Amino acid sequence: MMFKQVGLYVILLTSACESAKILGVFPIAMPSRYILGNALLRGLAEAGHDVTMVSPFTEKDPPKNGSWRDIVLTGITNEHQDYIRKFTKFQWLGQYASLSAMITPITASFISEPLLNHTNMQKLMKSGEKFDIVIVCQFLTEATKALSNLFDAHLIVFSSFRMNFMLNHLVGNPSLPSYEPELLSSFPPGMSFSQRVLNTLYKFVMNSLLHLFTYPINDRAVKKYFPSPFNQVDLNDALYNVSLILHNYHVSISSPLPHVPCIIDIGGIHIRPWKLPDDLQEFLDNAKEGVIYMSLGSNVNSKDLPLKSRTAILNTFSKLKLKVLWKWEDDVMPGQPPNVKIGKWLPQQDVLAHPNIKLFITQGGLLSIIETVYYGVPIIAIPFLADQPLNAYTAQKEGYGIVLLLKDLSEGKLSSLIEEILSNTKYTEEAKRRSTIMKDRQISPLDNAVYWVEYVIRHKGAKHLRVQYLDLAWYQYYLLDVFAFILIVILVACILLKISARCVRYILNKFIRNRFTKEKDE
Ligand SMILES: *[C@@H]1O[C@H](CO)[C@@H](O)[C@H](O)[C@H]1NC(C)=O
Ligand SMILES: *[C@@H]1O[C@H](CO)[C@@H](O)[C@H](O)[C@H]1NC(C)=O
Ligand SMILES: *[C@@H]1O[C@H](CO)[C@@H](O)[C@H](O)[C@H]1NC(C)=O
Repeated sequence: MMFKQVGLYVILLTSACESAKILGVFPIAMPSRYILGNALLRGLAEAGHDVTMVSPFTEKDPPKNGSWRDIVLTGITNEHQDYIRKFTKFQWLGQYASLSAMITPITASFISEPLLNHTNMQKLMKSGEKFDIVIVCQFLTEATKALSNLFDAHLIVFSSFRMNFMLNHLVGNPSLPSYEPELLSSFPPGMSFSQRVLNTLYKFVMNSLLHLFTYPINDRAVKKYFPSPFNQVDLNDALYNVSLILHNYHVSISSPLPHVPCIIDIGGIHIRPWKLPDDLQEFLDNAKEGVIYMSLGSNVNSKDLPLKSRTAILNTFSKLKLKVLWKWEDDVMPGQPPNVKIGKWLPQQDVLAHPNIKLFITQGGLLSIIETVYYGVPIIAIPFLADQPLNAYTAQKEGYGIVLLLKDLSEGKLSSLIEEILSNTKYTEEAKRRSTIMKDRQISPLDNAVYWVEYVIRHKGAKHLRVQYLDLAWYQYYLLDVFAFILIVILVACILLKISARCVRYILNKFIRNRFTKEKDE
């Protein structure tokens, strides 16, 4: 009896230890970021952890097991969305200029400052509460990396984008501009010479902007908004303190890139079964001739497309034998053809999972790309901003999609692309092949993420995963000191050779001349 009780006590104790306190900071008011962060944190709560999520949104159906707390950043949604729309309008500046603007002084603390200054966040920061793990969503949120110091927690970075110049150097991940297109470029894998030149320059400029503006500005934000004495921390120390990167990517999407051991691919973490509403189920079931699904995601509204593009799309759709399901953010669509069904919000995953979907017309956001590869549907990508051009050109290069730029969108062009994807089976076959790769995993991406978060707790920050690079100065990492040394050795050797050659020549000359003159004399 006694023994049993002790046993029970031990079990209770260990399970109490296993429940960690986890803080997730997902301050960006973009639904796609929230969906990802929420999927991860829900998974952690369902595994029995005590989870706090900081975000602009409220969870309406918190998980039953574990524990869940929302810290809602009231009022910053509109601010962020205005900002994102502004960048969509800057398209004419070109991909580079508009995106370089994102990390310049104007915007370097656009996400961090309203977060750190928010009343609810300030309350948490001054509460003295501690956590085991802080997970921060990466994107103009450098200052939040100092939260790990404030809450005495291990730092995990969640990257909703592919690995990029903002992250690689934090963990010493090798990334060469010779074969890795930078995040905000529109180069597909296998770059041409001129693309490699641009990619190299671009990476250099972005890196410089990051170090010249983004880091100092975020460091000032830490000094300004963190309670004392935690405002004394040097942001540089906080930045390189990352224990783990949870990377929203998977090898089925594009050719692989090198990963140091603390980068864990969890692309597909948000995939879970949904249920189609009855009317959609019926619409899709009855469309034996096939359905085209069109959605430009949550940042670009179809209803705000230029009239010319909208008319071209509508004219194309009205002449199709197929049906069309279109995410359209209004109650009515002027000139809606009979074969087109609209919905303000559509359960995208479930729609893509339906066997009658033949083609997805998308803006090429990473979540849409992951979903389309998961369900094996080929795409026509009309990219707008951020990583969308890169994703779109990658899909084209890898053979499961075609890019259509908004400026090239016309009725003739769109209908010929639709015809190409529907009649040439190679696109669908490639999408389906990649789908089998995406699904062929030892363990689900969510379980994998939970495992690695717990791994970091078990191994107290898992510092054994860090590569040596982090102990080197930048010139040591790029071997500049070694090259300089070798150069000097070669130079010295040349000089010595030259001197000794002169000596030899001198001696020989003297000797030979002497002999010659002697021979002549004889
Ligand atoms: C938590 O709840 C979910 C659904 O309610 C269940 O599937 C899961 O097994 C539970 N996990 C634990 C650790 O109890
Ligand atoms: C910070 O928040 C306070 C009120 O909560 C506000 O008065 C102040 O202007 C804010 N500062 C900045 C820089 O946004
Ligand atoms: C680095 O992380 C550890 C936990 O792994 C934390 O205790 C420490 O305060 C962090 N240091 C900085 C400078 O952020």
